[in-house]
Amino acid sequence: MKTVIIGSQGQLGSDLWKTLQANGDKVIGLSHQDLDITNKINSRNLLKRLSPELIINCAAYVQVDKAEIKPSYAFQVNSQGSLNLAKISAELGAFYTYISTDYVFDGTKRAPYDETDIPNPINIYGVSKYVGEYLSMNSCPNTLITRVSSLFGKSGSQGKGGNFIEAIINKAKTDGKLQVVNDMYISPTYTIDAATTILQLINHKTKGLVHVTNSIPSDCTWFTLAKQTLEFCKIDAQIDAISSNNYPSIANRPIYSVLDNQKAEHITGNRIPDWVDAVKRYLMEKQYIN
Ligand SMILES: NC(=O)c1ccc[n+]([C@@H]2O[C@H](COP(=O)([O-])OP(=O)(O)OC[C@H]3O[C@@H](n4cnc5c(N)ncnc54)[C@H](OP(=O)(O)O)[C@@H]3O)[C@@H](O)[C@H]2O)c1
Repeated sequence: MKTVIIGSQGQLGSDLWKTLQANGDKVIGLSHQDLDITNKINSRNLLKRLSPELIINCAAYVQVDKAEIKPSYAFQVNSQGSLNLAKISAELGAFYTYISTDYVFDGTKRAPYDETDIPNPINIYGVSKYVGEYLSMNSCPNTLITRVSSLFGKSGSQGKGGNFIEAIINKAKTDGKLQVVNDMYISPTYTIDAATTILQLINHKTKGLVHVTNSIPSDCTWFTLAKQTLEFCKIDAQIDAISSNNYPSIANRPIYSVLDNQKAEHITGNRIPDWVDAVKRYLMEKQYIN
């Protein structure tokens, strides 16, 4: 299938590109420089010329705190940008895939969120992504929305300037001690596993909403993820668990945003590896461990 990945230099986009290539698909990657999705005319002209059968939108404004300060830009990219691409996909008769987030939820459920749970975002980024979901779904009949969560991948998040695992390793190596929030529950997700599952969903011609995360055999917080990382890397640093109250940030963040990935596993017929296995493979890919 002729595919265009938008935001192809990002953390998830680059692994989706690699996964599609390895699958033998004809795939064209567009970086932010190649295409700004907020420019509807340029987007239409370029995509018409490329005439893909599948458009995967990995482009996003992902800076959660900065989105509170620059809300209109977050909406331009995450909501309007996706509307532009969904409309163009519909015009071209192409399949459209939008990547969304666990941050559409408010965290009050305190149990894994499935696709039937009603979003109630508590920060601007989450609202802009939820609006992006709504506009995409209502503008292109062949739309798949995959919500991912707490991503880590080889290229690191371009928007955030890296990922959490890298930040933990760097801090532990330079300072020898660190404090990490232990009351925010997450589903850490390796971009290779997310990319593999998203492509399987596309191959099954899946439409609608699907949660795509690594599996969570037991509760995972940012602290659990950091501790496991240091254990795998055999880095001897002091790591203290703290409350999110001791780590104030500009944006509100859900205290619990674990996503239930059973729908994805049911559709694809494949078990998505658990997050501990995923962290280990990531550290091997980055050659921190053998
Ligand atoms: N990272 C996470 O933990 C996380 C969690 C949940 C959901 N998600 C979602 O997962 C998706 C992928 O995230 P990621 O971690 O791969 O982010 P990323 O590494 O920051 O990649 C996003 C890409 O989008 C590009 N971009 C930004 N604005 C654009 C625009 N107006 N037009 C075209 N391209 C633009 C960025 O380019 P520049 O850097 O050059 O601007 C960057 O290459 C996003 O939809 C995000 O909302 C991420």
